[in-house]
Amino acid sequence: MNTLKINNLELTYKNGHQAIRNISLEIKNGMFGLLGPNGAGKSSLMKTIVGLQKPSSGSIQFNDVDIVSNSDYIKKNLGFLPQDFGVYPKVSAYNLLNHIAILKGIKDDTERKNQIQYLLEKVNLWNFKNKEVHTFSGGMKQRFGVAQALLASPKIIIVDEPTAGLDPEERNRFNTLLSDISSEVIVILSTHLVQDVKNLCSEMTIMNSGRILKTGKPKELIEDLEGKIWSKFIDNDELETYQSNLKVISQQLIERQLQITVFASTQPEGFLPVEPILEHVYFNILSQNS
Ligand SMILES: Nc1ncnc2c1ncn2[C@@H]1O[C@H](COP(=O)(O)OP(=O)(O)OP(=O)(O)O)[C@@H](O)[C@H]1O
Ligand SMILES: [Mg+2]
Repeated sequence: MNTLKINNLELTYKNGHQAIRNISLEIKNGMFGLLGPNGAGKSSLMKTIVGLQKPSSGSIQFNDVDIVSNSDYIKKNLGFLPQDFGVYPKVSAYNLLNHIAILKGIKDDTERKNQIQYLLEKVNLWNFKNKEVHTFSGGMKQRFGVAQALLASPKIIIVDEPTAGLDPEERNRFNTLLSDISSEVIVILSTHLVQDVKNLCSEMTIMNSGRILKTGKPKELIEDLEGKIWSKFIDNDELETYQSNLKVISQQLIERQLQITVFASTQPEGFLPVEPILEHVYFNILSQNS
């Protein structure tokens, strides 16, 4: 079992912006979802975990090794798919993976060859091994990104918004691939897609403005809202009144009629009960803390 422990982590950028505020988390094998809106601090947290930037204070331990001061240890055991993979050199998929494998310390030629073939087959790119990566479609680039992240059998895999820009079919394929590998390693998935977290993650945290707002199992967080979510069709001009009297967590136009969903511990007049879903958890937490 692998364990990542983050304690009282803080990060202030040079311009004075505080992107991580007193974050503590303990993450074990399986898929962990990091959910938050744009600018919440997800990428800042991930880049700090992988050692691309140093925290201002606090500690990060991986399998009881302090990885802030010993960043080699995390690099050896890590697979990282950044949000922005950046520029691809004009080399073939095979050669680029071979290069990364060497950097990751796979010295044996046969071992490298075997791993590259295995991974390119796993992400359905073996037929394109001689094609230059910069000519790949968005989905193929993402799958290539996963293959490079999986080289050298990492114990912790961090993927930052991996399905952005993928079509639904590619998104499914990508998600299945991640979930297949997550039983033996830690996979941290950062996203603002609630559905991906619901489908894939056994544990999750919701963050905003650099802070952790809630951590738990998606199923349990949903159960906590049982009997507390209600909805009603209203006229557009009533919205403000409802917003000032009730906690409106979402609003939706259905056939030109406005339906609002509210959080309340007892049934408000004229509202019908709604079975809670993870979106309600997410919007309820964000609206409490905005
Ligand atoms: N290098 C930097 N210097 C200064 N501020 C930064 C830097 N990188 C990020 N920020 C700021 O820190 C905050 C968190 O940014 P971050 O990229 O971590 O958010 P995010 O949750 O990954 O958002 P997104 O979903 O848009 O990727 C934002 O307000 C951002 O403008
Ligand atoms: Mg980001």
